[in-house]
Amino acid sequence: MPPTTLPAWQALLAHQREVAPLHLRDLFARDPQRFDRFSLEAAGLFLDYSKNLITAQTLPLLCRLAQEAGVTRKRDAMLAGERINFTENRAVLHTALRNRSARPVPVDGQDVMPEVRRVLAQMREFAEGVRSGALRGHTGKPYTDVVNIGIGGSDLGPQMVCEALEPYGDRLRAHFVSNVDGAHLARTLKRLDPQTVLFIVASKTFTTQETLANARSARAWLQERLGAESAVGRHFAAVSTNLQATAAFGIPPERVFAFWDWVGGRYSLWSAIGLPIALYIGMDRFEALLAGAHAMDEHFATAPPERNLPVILGLLGVWYIDFWGAGSHAVLPYDQGLLRFAPYLQQLDMESNGKRIDSAGSEAAQHTGPVVWGEPGTNGQHAFFQHLHQGTRWTPADFIVPARSHYPLGEHHAMLLANCLAQTQALMLGKTREQVRAELAAQGLDGDALARLAPHKEFPGNRPSNTIVLPQLTPAALGSLIALYEHKVFVQGAIWDVNSFDQWGVELGKQLAGRILDDLRAGTVSPAHDASTAGLLHALTRAGSAPGST
Ligand code: F6P
Repeated sequence: MPPTTLPAWQALLAHQREVAPLHLRDLFARDPQRFDRFSLEAAGLFLDYSKNLITAQTLPLLCRLAQEAGVTRKRDAMLAGERINFTENRAVLHTALRNRSARPVPVDGQDVMPEVRRVLAQMREFAEGVRSGALRGHTGKPYTDVVNIGIGGSDLGPQMVCEALEPYGDRLRAHFVSNVDGAHLARTLKRLDPQTVLFIVASKTFTTQETLANARSARAWLQERLGAESAVGRHFAAVSTNLQATAAFGIPPERVFAFWDWVGGRYSLWSAIGLPIALYIGMDRFEALLAGAHAMDEHFATAPPERNLPVILGLLGVWYIDFWGAGSHAVLPYDQGLLRFAPYLQQLDMESNGKRIDSAGSEAAQHTGPVVWGEPGTNGQHAFFQHLHQGTRWTPADFIVPARSHYPLGEHHAMLLANCLAQTQALMLGKTREQVRAELAAQGLDGDALARLAPHKEFPGNRPSNTIVLPQLTPAALGSLIALYEHKVFVQGAIWDVNSFDQWGVELGKQLAGRILDDLRAGTVSPAHDASTAGLLHALTRAGSAPGST
């Protein structure tokens, strides 16, 4: 059912007109309980959502929308292993991968948990073998470097987590190669010793062009340097649902880690796709990451909507996108470890909800997923925060901040925290023309000079944000944070009635690239191409783009 036809949708349209003239400054001044009313702690995370364009009536109305859209029913269907990914006829069970309870999780009547536990045990044995030096390379040296070769969900999640949990990375160095641009692999290999490197080829399908090209080139590099075909078995492992293809690549079965079609690529870091994480921080800490996510799953599954963190974040997003016209959403972690969090969320959110067709096959009558973007603070402050504070468009933002740092260096962390809170405060309060005039007058300005400068120094404020506080960026807190966003994305997809678990939108480009590659290989330009593609091919050929050219 299109959400726009639901009674709550209509009620929210009317409610938005009531809230639009209000200013957050006044809402805070009027209600001393606002922070208590609009903040919440669960699964180790604290959420302050008081700086949103909402009144006491807004959340109940949004929760009514969730209820009318069947969010709870859809959530329960996902957790029960129903085939909710209806365009691929698959269940969606990343929650089973981090199920730390004894509850079975059935798909078509078959409990998936024994298989999940089997692969976790296999990961543990392998990770411990590599980390302890019991498993070694072809020439007998212990491994020092792990190179994950994968792209999209087979790269972004493990890469983001390894970056975030760097303080726990105690034995091996982790590298990630994703781009088919040869520079990515070549620049990584330059720094490595073939005798001590372990490649993990990570691909759900094991058909992804970029990953296979990088894996083949890495294999050739290794063979050339170690001089033996048999070295491949000692220096490669694979993670995939396609076990035939991994065998064809020459990876011995004991170094192949399986996962299943009910794990979406962008939801797969909890599966064996997380192997580089387990190698980097150890299996106990990988399991702590799973436990953190499980705690959020339990919260999502049981808390009432108005006390449910992912539901609240999801509903607030829908509120801004569909009732206020926001087109993008900023993610601003005040933690250098979360350097790769925004790129990770881009795939999670934009590949899940960047959809325009609903479950009935009709074009959506409202907007769906936003553009997700961001950078860690304080760097972002010196780049795009100007736009956040004074641009003509406003962007709802999530600020994410740990109370404690892993690197307590002088006053650095206090400065980081102060900047984070100051930015949310500035976005919310703004600075009025009167305040600006008074400040300028105090600096000795008056007359025309003051009048000319004042509007430029004014901040409209009333720009919404959430603040998510973690005690510290630990494996458990990170697991909970990632699961929070996964479920937020789920809630939004459920309201918009789109399939958040397919990604047909990535297929056309792949198909067309195949045809263009044929031309580039043959040095021809097919007459079937449009004039722009043909013209570009000619221009590239003139500039020396033949395969193998430098
Ligand atoms: O092209 C998009 C995509 O299919 C993503 O959804 C996926 O995470 C990525 O490619 C990698 O796919 P695979 O793990 O099968 O190599």
